Formats: sequence, C-alpha cells, structure tokens
Amino acid sequence: MPTTAPTTPRDLTRDSDLVRAARRQDVGRTPVWFMRQAGRSLPEYRAVREGIPMLESCMRPELVTEITLQPVRRHGVDAAIFFSDIVVPLKAVGVDLDIVPGVGPVVAAPVRTRADLDRLPELTPDHVPYITDAVEQLTRELGPTPLIGFAGAPFTLASYLVEGGPSKNHERTKALMHGDPELWADLCARLAQISGAFLRVQASAGASAVQLFDSWVGALSRADYVAHVQRHSAAALAAVADLDVPRIHFGVGTGELLDLMGEAGADVVGVDFRVSLADATRRLGPSYAVQGNLDPALLFAPWPALERRVREIVEEGRQAPGHIFNLGHGVLPDVDPDVLTRVTALVHECSTRS
Ligand code: CP3
Repeated sequence: MPTTAPTTPRDLTRDSDLVRAARRQDVGRTPVWFMRQAGRSLPEYRAVREGIPMLESCMRPELVTEITLQPVRRHGVDAAIFFSDIVVPLKAVGVDLDIVPGVGPVVAAPVRTRADLDRLPELTPDHVPYITDAVEQLTRELGPTPLIGFAGAPFTLASYLVEGGPSKNHERTKALMHGDPELWADLCARLAQISGAFLRVQASAGASAVQLFDSWVGALSRADYVAHVQRHSAAALAAVADLDVPRIHFGVGTGELLDLMGEAGADVVGVDFRVSLADATRRLGPSYAVQGNLDPALLFAPWPALERRVREIVEEGRQAPGHIFNLGHGVLPDVDPDVLTRVTALVHECSTRS
C-alpha cells in the first residue's frame, strides 16, 4: 500500500488566499484580516476576559483559543492572529513586567546596563509550553483558515525594556543606541534570539504565517535603522526561514523604511495609512507583497466615505505583486464591530476575480 505523508496544519492552508497573496501568487479574492481583531471591540471578548488579567489570559490555552477564534467566527476574516502580546516572551524568560489597562506594558526594573542585560536569558520552547498547546489546539479548530503567529521586533521590545514602559520619544532608547552601541547591539541580539525563538515555537506548532511587529521603529532615520536595527530584525526573521511560513514585517510611520524592512527578510511588508499602497509598491519593487492600509479612524466615518476608501485600497492593492487587506494599525477599542464585518464582506465582494 502506498503510504501518504500525514497532513500538517500548514498543508490545509497552503492554498488559502492569505498564504497565496503573501507568496505573490494569484488569489480568488483579496484576503483580509485586522490587526487587533481580537480584543476590546468585541463584547464576547470583554465577557470572557472579565476578571482575568491580560498576561494571565495569554497563558491559558483554552482561553487563547476562544479569543483567537472570536473575530474569525464573527467577521469571516481570512486569517486568525494568535492572541498573545509582544511582551509575553519577555515575561516568560523572567522579566518582571505587567500590562496595565489603558497604559500598555510596564517593566518593573528597566534594562539599561550590562548587568541588566546579563539577567535576560535566552528563550527556549520550555519557557512557553502554553504557546505550543494553544497553537496546536487552534490550528486543529481552524482547519483551512491560516493562523498568523507573531512577535515583537528587537527595537520595539528594547524600547519597552529600556524606557520601562510606553514612550513617545524613545529618548533613553536612542541615548543607549548612540551612547553605548556595543551594549545596544548585544541587547538587540538577545531580543532577536527571544523573538526568533518565539516565532519558531508558533510556526513549529502549526502557524501558517508569522508577523514581526516593529511598531515604534518609525521613530528612526534610515541611517540609524541600517546601523543599529536592521540586522537584528533580520536575525529574528531568519529563525523561521527554513519553516515554509511567509513572513510579514510591520511598523507604524515606516514609509521611509519600507525597502529596508523588506530587505530584513520579509515576504510581505506592512504599510500604515500615511503612505498609499501605490507609493509603497513603487518603493518596494516587485519582490514583496504589501499588507494594509486602511486608517483605523476611518472605521468611524459614514459608510459611503469608508466604502469609497476601501474600494480604492483594494484597487491599489491589485497593482501590487500581492496584497493582504488590513488596517494601517490596530482596531481601536471603541469601534462598532459590525463595521469590521461589513468591511470584510466589501473587500471580498469587490475583489472577487472572475
Ligand atoms: O488581535 C490581535 O491583534 C492579537 C493580539 C495582540 C495583542 N497585542 C493583544 C493585546 C497583538 C498582535 C499585540 C501586539 C502588541 N502589543 C504590539 C504590536 C502591535 C501594535 O499595536 O503596534 C504592541 C506595541 C503591544 C504592546 C501593548 N499591549 C499595548 C500598547 C497594549 C494596549 C494597552 C491598553 O490597554 O491600551 C497592550 C495590551 C493588549 N495587547 C491588549 C490586547 C487585546 C489590551 C488588553 C486588554 O484587553 O485588557
């Protein structure tokens, strides 16, 4: 009897529009998902999270599975994004931090010296068994719908660690980068290991694509990005290079960095709402798909204005080598979730290939 290789979760999603668009292959219609699609915009999310702190909820596979599936069921999006947070792997290796509602990640003892760095261990899969469990459970339930795993990029993680919390100007981070470039490089190399290992755990357990979030790297010039950041993001992305998962690389305000972020090892470059997809495609050339880029605030506009903008983005995306429809940044907590459902249906309807 001929033996057939066992079917893996990724075999089931290989022909999904999301994976195909990421690989610049033709699609039946433009795939769509939303950054922060799981979260406070959904009443069913608020209900299951009640009384459970954010970081604790990320460590419960049953709850992670339910929360990750909620927006897929409700909106009919083309992908699930794993419910977790960019600081979960830092917590897992022992960093004393919390996610404070309305504030974001807050670190008890910021990392600013060589001794602080020496206390930050590498991440192994044994630090995060609950991530493996949740991804395995999720991919079983998702079937042909791809799961996107993710991690924070070294610069964005370093900013939280060095500043001790969210920062507008990243002043201590930039002071360290320029004042002690050797310590900065060693810190980013450690964070690249942690991010890369976190991506690898998710991809090994069955995620079909990964996204590296460098949310705050738009604060840097091209020169500083090349000198102090790019190789570390490249190292994080390289950790899954052999695993057959498309890699998405996203930041906010990164119009001037798009080509450099692609070069770091991405298949798809995320574009925020400040640059049109047509400009982004010109800047990136033929080797990358793009993801984006509806302004999340436009979800509050009257439907005709929103509809016009969605149609424009879909049209611009059709000129790109590949396009995944998304927002230019995360869903805002006060948005009416029915609008997201309607946008999903509109993207599908107006992009269906004959
Ligand atoms: O649906 C999804 O997109 C998946 C889940 C997800 C979360 N955080 C859940 C979350 C993802 C992909 C992230 C990534 C993340 N976390 C980033 C990169 C993406 C981005 O927005 O640029 C960043 C910078 C963080 C750090 C962070 N964590 C912030 C700024 C906040 C918001 C704090 C607040 O309360 O306003 C968090 C908390 C967080 N992460 C929430 C969620 C759903 C809100 C917590 C809650 O519901 O109580």
